Amino acid sequence: MFQGKKILLGISGSIAAYKSILLVRLLIKSGAAVKVVMTPAAQDFVTPLTLSTLSRNPVLTELFTEGSWSNHVMLGRWADLMLIAPLSCNTLAKMAGGHCDNMLLATWLSATCPVVVAPAMDEDMWHHPSTRANLQKLESYGNLVVPAENGELASGLYGDGRMAEPETILQFLQDHFFLKKDLEGKQVLVTAGPTHEPLDPVRFIGNHSSGKMGVAIAEELAARGAMVKLVMGPGSVTTARPGITVQQVQTALEMYEACMAAFPKVDIAVMSAAVADYTPTTRATEKIKKTADTFTIELAKTRDILQSLGNQKHNGQVLVGFALETTNERDYALNKLKSKHADLIVLNSLNDEGAGFGHDTNKITIFEKDGNEIAYPRKPKQQVAKDIVDRIVNMLYA
Ligand code: CTP
Repeated sequence: MFQGKKILLGISGSIAAYKSILLVRLLIKSGAAVKVVMTPAAQDFVTPLTLSTLSRNPVLTELFTEGSWSNHVMLGRWADLMLIAPLSCNTLAKMAGGHCDNMLLATWLSATCPVVVAPAMDEDMWHHPSTRANLQKLESYGNLVVPAENGELASGLYGDGRMAEPETILQFLQDHFFLKKDLEGKQVLVTAGPTHEPLDPVRFIGNHSSGKMGVAIAEELAARGAMVKLVMGPGSVTTARPGITVQQVQTALEMYEACMAAFPKVDIAVMSAAVADYTPTTRATEKIKKTADTFTIELAKTRDILQSLGNQKHNGQVLVGFALETTNERDYALNKLKSKHADLIVLNSLNDEGAGFGHDTNKITIFEKDGNEIAYPRKPKQQVAKDIVDRIVNMLYA
């Protein structure tokens, strides 16, 4: 993920400094070169020895050592990115005021690379107007702030101000600096989740789709610069990620109408929703009472959204469909590719372990209109989303 990137990690004095150890490990594991600079207070929480061992580089703590001067300017120039995590309230205030009384501050002041900070403090400090003002000042200098999270705090209280988890910080770095923005300016429509077809005010016909795969695709598209409209059935997940506008729908008809309205303006459409194929022909206005021994429901076919979009697709638009099958998977997928005028069909077979509804993993095969057929191993849905978006991008710019 960070292969060949040079990351300078600044650690200031906060109990969250223990998470910096994990941060260094994750950065090194993902291919980055890491150097660490610490404030004097940070050394009360974690030792330079631990961090130099993990980062495989000496850790800088002092501006002057035994009559010699540490070159903070070159350190700032060495880095592709400086990350200060945790950023304590005290170091934040010093940065906002331009103070320079330790090695971390001197390095930050002379860094020419982008800077990201991950604050960590107790809730009352986090919400204090001076902290708000100091963070705003840092942002006005161009520094990016990884939002602090809500959770258990060093005080034993529960609230805002907890430093983001190392994995979240890494994701933030990747999204902001190291991810190709290859979909900048592109408009995308994504459907996700199940649909619910009402029988009466309390019952519906639905399916087990959670919406996880569609949400993961929408998030990957947004991370790569696209503006995403996510038409979402009543699944168990959602997203608040910037770049994604969520429109909640219930029924196949509502999803159809939302998609038909959005489709003419988009460059890409990904139909990952598990849309009901049939809907009750009548919807009782009152709850259906248990009277007869048998009960028959008449169903009518819903409109096929993918098919409708395929029929009106214009040049340059990339249309992606899904096929969830239990038998003759390959034949059905190829048939859907052709008959629905899709550019790409993502097949997942319910016969594969860890694939399909509800799981956090998926195992897919992609069929493309020019005959490519790519089978992937089982992966987390976020990774699967990357694979799908890679193929979409490839097709968009082919
Ligand atoms: N789809 C759709 N509108 C529908 C039904 C399905 O847009 N009313 C889309 C799904 O979002 C998916 C693709 O069509 O991208 C395939 O869905 P699937 O249920 O596997 O196939 P169907 O076309 O419904 O065919 P069948 O159920 O016979 O396999």
